[in-house]
Amino acid sequence: MAASGSTSNDSLSGRGAGDGGSGRGTAATSGLGFAPGQVLSGPVDLRLSASLVGSRVHYLATVDSTNAILRSLAAEGEPEGAVVVADEQTAGRGRAGRSWFSPPGLGLWLSVLLMPRRPVRDVAPLSIVTAISVATALRRDYGVDARVKWPNDLVAGARKLGGILLESLQGAAGAVERVVVGIGLNVNLESSDLPADLTETATSLRILLGRTVPRLDVLRSVLDGLDEDWRLFEAGGFASFRERWLGLSTVLGRHIEIASGSDARADGAGSAARSRVVAGIAVGITPAGALIVEDDAGETTDVWHGDVTVLGGTDD
Ligand code: BTN
Repeated sequence: MAASGSTSNDSLSGRGAGDGGSGRGTAATSGLGFAPGQVLSGPVDLRLSASLVGSRVHYLATVDSTNAILRSLAAEGEPEGAVVVADEQTAGRGRAGRSWFSPPGLGLWLSVLLMPRRPVRDVAPLSIVTAISVATALRRDYGVDARVKWPNDLVAGARKLGGILLESLQGAAGAVERVVVGIGLNVNLESSDLPADLTETATSLRILLGRTVPRLDVLRSVLDGLDEDWRLFEAGGFASFRERWLGLSTVLGRHIEIASGSDARADGAGSAARSRVVAGIAVGITPAGALIVEDDAGETTDVWHGDVTVLGGTDD
C-alpha cells in the first residue's frame, strides 16, 4: 500500500483541535481529530446516520491517492461501504488522467467502495449521481449554491468546487463487482492556496462562505447523503435522479461544446485527432444519464462523456 501513514502531525485529540479551530492546513491543525492510521467506525466514531457508506473509515495522513489505496484494500476483501479519507494526496487523480490538487488539511479527499447490483451499463451514471448527492448535501447543510456541471463536476457559479472520479474493478466475468467512487472537495482552501492554473477556475466552501468549515462535519454530511442516495440508485438507477439533475444542472438549455474522446487518453493530454466535438444546445438527459445535445439542424445526439464548454457567456 502506498500510504505514507502518519508522518506529519497529528495525534490530535478532540475535534476542536483538528479542524474546527483555524481550519487552516498547518501541520498542527490539519487532522480530522483522530489519529491517522486508525480504522474508524462511521456510526460510532463519526456519528454517522449512514449504515452502509462509512461503516468503516480508514483515516490516513498522507497518501498518493485515496482511490489507489481503496483499490488495494478492495482487492484484499474490504467490505462494501468502506471509506478511505486522507488529509493530503501526493498524486491525487482527476478525470481524463489529470492530477488533482490535494494539499494537506484543506479539503476532503476520500474514496468510497460500492458494489453495484445493477447491470454494468447502468453503473457509469453513478459518478453523476454522486455529484448530485454531494451538491444536495452542501446545499442543505451549508446553504451554498452547489450545482452539477455535466458529467460530474461540482461547481458554484462558474468555478469548480469539487469533482468525482469513478474507477471500476472488473470482476472475473466482466461484470462490475466493485466501484471506487473518489470525491474531491475543496473545503478550506483560500485563493492564495491555489496554484496559478487554478486561481481563475476553482473555489472552496471557505471562499464561498467567508469562514472555515470543520471538515469532519462536511464528511458526515457527504457520507450520510451518499448512503441515502446509494440506496435510491440501487433501487431505480439514474432515472431516480433525473429530476434532481434537471434542477441542479449548469448546462441545461445552454449552448455547449463537448469534446468527447479525450477521456480515452490515459495520459490525459487529449488529442484533437481522436476527440469528437459535439456542439449544440443541451436539451436534456436520458433516463440512463447521457446528455442530449441538439444541433442547429435539430438533430439530437446522446453524449456519454467528455469535457463541456459553455459557449456564449460564463458557465453560471
Ligand atoms: C475530477 O477530475 O473532477 C475528479 C477529481 C477527483 C478527485 C478525488 S480526490 C479523492 C479521490 N482520490 C483521487 O486520487 N481522486 C479522487
